[in-house]
Amino acid sequence: MNQHSDALKTFFHLDKILDEMQTQGFSIIDDLYPVEYMQTLQQECSDHLDQFRKASIQDGVMTEIRSDHILWIEPDLTLASQHIAQLEHLSQDLNRYFFAGIRDIEAHFACYHAGEFYALHRDNPQQKNGRVFSTVYYLHSEWQNDWQGQLRLQDIQNQWHIIEPKANRMVLFQSDLLHEVLETKQDRLSITAWMRNSDPVLG
Ligand code: OGA
Ligand code: MN
Repeated sequence: MNQHSDALKTFFHLDKILDEMQTQGFSIIDDLYPVEYMQTLQQECSDHLDQFRKASIQDGVMTEIRSDHILWIEPDLTLASQHIAQLEHLSQDLNRYFFAGIRDIEAHFACYHAGEFYALHRDNPQQKNGRVFSTVYYLHSEWQNDWQGQLRLQDIQNQWHIIEPKANRMVLFQSDLLHEVLETKQDRLSITAWMRNSDPVLG
C-alpha cells in the first residue's frame, strides 16, 4: 500500500456506513476523496475512453438492458487500482461487522453518454456470481439536477430512493437490491465495483 492510498483511507466514516447498511441496505458517502485525487482518476478514465466497450455485449451475447460503455480495471490502471485498494479496506470492515465473507473485488469504469441508461436489475440475480455488495463512485467534474441519470434503488424495506450521481459521491448497496440508471442527458462517468464472497459459479 503506498502513501497516497493510505492517506485516502481516512475518508470512510465507518459507523454511519455500517448503521445505514444495517437499516437500509445502502449508504451514500459524499466527498469521498480529496478533489485532486478524483481529478486524476477522472483523467485516467478519460485517457482510456477509446478502449471502452459496449456493456450490452457479454460473452458475445447482446442484451437490451443497458447502453453504457465499460472498461474492466486491471492493475495497469493505477489510480483506479488505488480506489479498489480502498474498497478492500472497507470490505474488511464489512466482513468483521456483517460476516460477509468478501474475498475479492471486480470493477469497471462506466461511461453513459446522453440518452444511455441501465434498466431495472439486480447485480446478483441468481446468487451465482458471488456479489455481496455493489459500489458506484461518480467521477465526472460536476452534476446538475436536470441532467437526470439518477440511480433509482429499492432499499431493504422496499422503499424507493432516487440518488443523484453527484461528483465524488459513492453509493454502497447490497447487490441483491433492485435498481436502475435513469436515462442521462450528459456524459456520466463512474467506477462500479463489486465485493464478492466467492469465485463465480460458471454455467
Ligand atoms: C451497475 C449499476 C449504477 C450507477 O453498474 O450495475 O447499476 O449508478 N450502476 O451507475
Ligand atoms: Mn447494477
